Amino acid sequence: MTSVSITVNGTARTAEVEGRTLLVNLLREGFGLTGTHIGCDTSQCGACVVHVDGKAVKSCTMLAAQADGATVLTIEGLAHGDELHPVQAAFHEHHGLQCGFCTPGMIMAAVDMIERHDAQLDEATIRHELEGNICRCTGYHNIVKAIQAASDRMAGLRQAAE
Ligand code: FES
Ligand code: FES
Repeated sequence: MTSVSITVNGTARTAEVEGRTLLVNLLREGFGLTGTHIGCDTSQCGACVVHVDGKAVKSCTMLAAQADGATVLTIEGLAHGDELHPVQAAFHEHHGLQCGFCTPGMIMAAVDMIERHDAQLDEATIRHELEGNICRCTGYHNIVKAIQAASDRMAGLRQAAE
């Protein structure tokens, strides 16, 4: 067993893990953060996306021990109290989910995508960036619309802050 210390959603957490334990399993089973989903065993679906040190990562592709000392953000840590993150609000407003299984990973990937691009995102860029996230309900049209709306909103917030 190895001791792993991670700051998760602003809280310092420590756990004893086996060398083979994946980050997604530590988050879900060790810390009870079940908003991060497991949708495949081939690293293809993106349901498990979280942010590790500010970058979107498929948490099924990383060992928990590799995250020792890292800062992790999961879907549970995205909102500020009752105030949804703009990407969460846009998914709600634009009906960007059906069963919701892919949604946490989609949202975490979308936040990372918007933060990496300075400009507002066009549809082609969003669709290209979402290649690593699968929606089995095939709700891509509204997911793309939601991300585009969130990108516009976050660009407006950035301009207002300048
Ligand atoms: S569970 Fe990680 S990519 Fe599918
Ligand atoms: S909303 Fe059902 S898998 Fe995407």
